Amino acid sequence: MKKVITYGSFDLFHRGHYNLLKRAKQLGDYLIVGVTTEQYDKSRGKLNVCDSLSERMESVRKTGLADEIIVEDHIGQKAEDILKYQVDILTVGSDWIGEFDHFRKYCEVIYLERTKDISSTMLRTNNFNLVRLGIVGSGKIAGRFMPEIKYVSGIVPVSVFNPRLEGAKSFAEKFGLKFYEDDWETFLSKIDAVYIASPHGTHIDYVMRALEGNKHVLCEKPLAFSGEDAKRAYALAKEKKLVLMEAIKTAYCPGFHQLVGVVQSGIIGTVYDVEACFTKLVPIGSREWTGEYAGAFSELASYPLLGISKILGVNYKSVRFESFWNEQQTDIYSKAYLKYPNAAATVKVGIGVKSLGSMLISGTRGFIEVKAPWWKTTEFGVHYENPANDEVFFSRYLGEGLRYEISEFLRAILGHNSNYFPAEESIAIAAVMEEFRKDRERCMK
Ligand code: CTP
Repeated sequence: MKKVITYGSFDLFHRGHYNLLKRAKQLGDYLIVGVTTEQYDKSRGKLNVCDSLSERMESVRKTGLADEIIVEDHIGQKAEDILKYQVDILTVGSDWIGEFDHFRKYCEVIYLERTKDISSTMLRTNNFNLVRLGIVGSGKIAGRFMPEIKYVSGIVPVSVFNPRLEGAKSFAEKFGLKFYEDDWETFLSKIDAVYIASPHGTHIDYVMRALEGNKHVLCEKPLAFSGEDAKRAYALAKEKKLVLMEAIKTAYCPGFHQLVGVVQSGIIGTVYDVEACFTKLVPIGSREWTGEYAGAFSELASYPLLGISKILGVNYKSVRFESFWNEQQTDIYSKAYLKYPNAAATVKVGIGVKSLGSMLISGTRGFIEVKAPWWKTTEFGVHYENPANDEVFFSRYLGEGLRYEISEFLRAILGHNSNYFPAEESIAIAAVMEEFRKDRERCMK
């Protein structure tokens, strides 16, 4: 019996997929079809797959062409499958020509002509209207965002807003945007959604104005400096049936999801302590050092607070701070201690002090060390009393990692549930920011 194997995402199943499977089947007697998991697709940079794994497997099953359907969930699996299933022929479409030649030592490799003028990407774009995105602010963060957005199909940046028109103009020219505006209403009239990357203190005001103007909002962290402000924003978004997401990139990246899943699985027992650190030395005089919302805590604490609230929840009992200030009353290094009913957590952030950017999660059966930089989660170790049982997990983190939050923002706009970073966590983080600012006022008296 001649065994043939092929792989794909088979999202929004189309005639190109059908033709491929039909010809694959004709190559032998028994056809195995590997369907990719969403996690695997994400890790190889394929974002925005619309159908769930079970829907995509069902589409393949319905063709009646597959004798066996398997799940493909990791790099290296093809070689394993070829040996495991004693495959004679590996076949894929001609878009992969050359990519799988190294398997020729195990089996025959056949590239089948791809069906013209159809692809899942094309359907994803045509089935839904392209989301036109406007960028608020034209600084460093907005500049880092632009190269990432091209990895997400279905959303296109078209415009930039800056009250200083010159800034908007040069940004638009640099990134090839159609429009640049200094008038808010004109800006809103040409877009469906906004990405807010203006100075920190202006975030919440832009968020409210964009929601009032019926636009979906992706807002750079910190969304707000008060719990009430954040609450108002999420309430307005809910009332208007709009998406509001805080852009803390870690919340949306695959490695961090894996980490949270491993903690939730209970393998390190009950968690009693989470310690997370993020420091970034920045030159004196730069944005992080100047203005009302400058300093280590405003700039960086969102990340550790995200990690902590994901693992211990949002119902901490108390929070206290230790900060070190310069003459301009900017904290160069801060620590926050959160006390939970049955756990403790520590945040360490610095813009003038450098430390190890790792995360440590301690439980009753073991601990997890997330390697620095933990906020770009790519590697973490699970450690036990007996080191022979230790395990290490790896994950990919592509580019600047912003593509994951953009992809999730688009999914939410298209009506998919987005649970990676729920409103209550974002609100809790804003409430800690508020406590920090109160503490700062007390210290300055
Ligand atoms: N395929 C094909 N002809 C098409 C589209 C896909 O022969 N017009 C083949 C691919 O070469 C692959 C298989 O179908 O062997 C599954 O491809 P998949 O990546 O799931 O489909 P695409 O439509 O190419 O998806 P995307 O646009 O998301 O890359």
